[in-house]
Amino acid sequence: MLIKKGKFIKDHQVTDYSVYQNRRDFIKTATGLGLAAATGGIIQPSFALSKPTGFSTQEAKTPYKDITSYCNFYEFGTGKADPKKYAKNLTTSPWSVLIEGECEKTGRYDLDDLLKPLSIEERIYRFRCVEGWSMVIPWMGFPLAQLIKRMKPTAKAKYVYFETLYDPKQMRGQKTKALDWPYIEGLRIDEAMNPLTLMATGLYGKDLLNQNGAPLRLVVPWKYGFKSIKSIAKIRFMEKQPVNSWQKANMTEYGFYSNVNPQVNHPRWSQRKERRIGEFRKRKTKLFNGYAEQVAGLYSGMDLKKNF
Ligand code: MTE
Repeated sequence: MLIKKGKFIKDHQVTDYSVYQNRRDFIKTATGLGLAAATGGIIQPSFALSKPTGFSTQEAKTPYKDITSYCNFYEFGTGKADPKKYAKNLTTSPWSVLIEGECEKTGRYDLDDLLKPLSIEERIYRFRCVEGWSMVIPWMGFPLAQLIKRMKPTAKAKYVYFETLYDPKQMRGQKTKALDWPYIEGLRIDEAMNPLTLMATGLYGKDLLNQNGAPLRLVVPWKYGFKSIKSIAKIRFMEKQPVNSWQKANMTEYGFYSNVNPQVNHPRWSQRKERRIGEFRKRKTKLFNGYAEQVAGLYSGMDLKKNF
């Protein structure tokens, strides 16, 4: 494994990408051979059964069916069921990611080459949407910091910008004006380097489905869900703070930081509580979505009401 062994992560909880890929290939073959039927339809790779790391919550996981059918992915429509319905035919292999801007290793990378030296691990994170619902999702992925280090950012790189694929032929929602396409997002480089910040390639031990942002998406668990940009095709290291798609859509309602904060209401609704998908009663929303211990230091001295 490439990442340092810290107090949180042990060797057996991390899987090298090549091993992960072999298991993926095995699962695909096994499914093709009908072996899946013999195991009740699901073949869980062993890494999915590893104990949660210190980064993971022990809270009850949201069922796979809900995570994969109740989605926000405006490239495929604005309804929660649209992504599952219309993202099926998006080609996610081959896939490449263009790395640009303030780093030494700029270029277009085939996704498999980009992932090969990385380690895939499971992270069970809370996920809070700005709309007021939440889930608990067992992601498979790698810390974004691993990728950033490999790209060797220059001293000028203060922010990381992300862009989703732009292809209206495949993404029917891009033919509409629901948002200004392509979908874009950004993080301050120290936020991007924080050990919690994940690049996800899967969930529940399986490859990401298209509706959840295959083949590669960002997951920033202390921020509202819209920061977790899906189907990333471009990453740019920047000196200046980029805007994101939702800021572009409405500067007064959405900010750059978008940290989960029950004390800062959305202009049109309260953020004090959330509805965990599958639960009836609302629960209290926590500052930084319960990750204050890991991330509050990133914002010391900042007015979180102004920098929302
Ligand atoms: N990424 C892209 N490219 N397009 C989108 O519309 N929606 C965002 C985020 N990433 C979105 C996106 C929003 S609003 C949320 S809440 C999460 O994806 C939803 O992720 P999920 O559907 O996997 O739960």
